[in-house]
Amino acid sequence: MRVSAIIPAAGSGTRMGTPTPKQFWVVHDRPLIVYTLQTLARSDFIQEVAVPTSEDGLPLLQDFVRRFHLDGKVQIVRGGESRHYSIRNGLLALSPADVVIVHDAVRPFVFEEIFRPLAEAAWEHGAAGTVMPLVDTVLAVTDDGFMERSLDRRLYRASQTPQAFRYEILKRAYENAAEEEMLHSTECLELARRAGARVKLLQGSPFFWKVTYKPDIYTAERLAMERSRQVAIVTGGSRGIGQKVAESLADRGLKVAVVARDEEVETVARHIGGMAVQADVSRPDEVQRLFDAVLERWGRVDVMVNNAGTARWRKLADMGDEEWQEIVDTNLSGAFYCTRAAFRAMVESGNGGVIINIGSSSISGGRVGEGAYAASKAGLVALTETTALEGKPYGIHAFTVVPRRTDTALRRALYPDEKDADLLDPSDVARVVTFCATEWMPHLSGQSFWVK
Ligand code: CTP
Ligand code: MG
Repeated sequence: MRVSAIIPAAGSGTRMGTPTPKQFWVVHDRPLIVYTLQTLARSDFIQEVAVPTSEDGLPLLQDFVRRFHLDGKVQIVRGGESRHYSIRNGLLALSPADVVIVHDAVRPFVFEEIFRPLAEAAWEHGAAGTVMPLVDTVLAVTDDGFMERSLDRRLYRASQTPQAFRYEILKRAYENAAEEEMLHSTECLELARRAGARVKLLQGSPFFWKVTYKPDIYTAERLAMERSRQVAIVTGGSRGIGQKVAESLADRGLKVAVVARDEEVETVARHIGGMAVQADVSRPDEVQRLFDAVLERWGRVDVMVNNAGTARWRKLADMGDEEWQEIVDTNLSGAFYCTRAAFRAMVESGNGGVIINIGSSSISGGRVGEGAYAASKAGLVALTETTALEGKPYGIHAFTVVPRRTDTALRRALYPDEKDADLLDPSDVARVVTFCATEWMPHLSGQSFWVK
């Protein structure tokens, strides 16, 4: 089946009320319309894409097509005075196809899985649309602003895009439409129906909603973030700060691989619906196994939290080689092995990501009996800063989160007599880690965030 698409993008977004039309609003690192176009460009199912846009939009879109490597499939054409005229211009620019998909530029989170069933339904019936049940009830109104009656919500659906049409039907629909209709109606399915299609309606999605008013931009920003941060690995995740971080990231919708040496990791992973990996991060072969498992299952790593740590209270003069080595191997080398593997996976995916190292307030000012621990944690700061510099070209960010003394089992083992009131709650630390993992902070990287 030969399938083309038209992405109307010539509107001015009057309901948004901003000078820049909504399709050109930059959401994180790219304009809204680029999300839409990238999904279409990725889909092997669609062979040709026409984008009708306004006079001002032409140079902008030409630039996006170049910058985001959309050339090949996408051609930009002049839009029209109304959405219908824009779509018609797109149709005239396309070579004849079997089916044409129409999708608004300002519904950026369409997923490509819908294209095939939609096109097949259109091929069979002449046209097909996506719909959702109504959220609000609908009132029929009088010209002077009074309610006439309410409609039975169950009998109606809200129309979304994508929609699909047999090429011939859409052509005929536009040939037949009167000027008044071309200017003032907005529903292509209605024109197709009158051109002979029996319009099939498929289940749409809340994610196909149209960015229309100001609050929609905020939703789009959150969803864009969610899409770029999907999979996290948290080491030392069976208890303390790591457990709280794993829980908090899972609450934000991330898939979380929980890593620890002990079996408790199973309980935490089960509780959050994540993946448990029992591994010792101080061993490169085990880190390799961890990444193999995560990439095999989820195909990507977007957030790496190096939290695994060990400590022992021992003055430097009394410390044995093995004790020193074990602490440095876990706290510093372990973070390096995971950073290296995560970095490679993030470069490979092309999505970038964030690597967060959990430091300790002992890195500053020193602490009697915590020499190996403090030295290894201080090393993490330098590791973070280097990761930030080397990660910049790939969109990889790195942060150190430095908690003050925190109420964890590790700490209680070191200082059994410490009073609760002096200690931070691990959840407070997890909140800062989650912030670093899920906020869009394009110009921040390499920083240490102290939690006090
Ligand atoms: N559209 C178009 N040509 C027009 C008007 C609209 O291509 N003359 C496109 C818009 O760019 C958008 C889609 O049709 O991608 C859906 O329209 P809508 O949400 O109404 O966008 P705008 O018309 O830009 O917004 P508003 O109605 O608030 O002015
Ligand atoms: Mg409009």
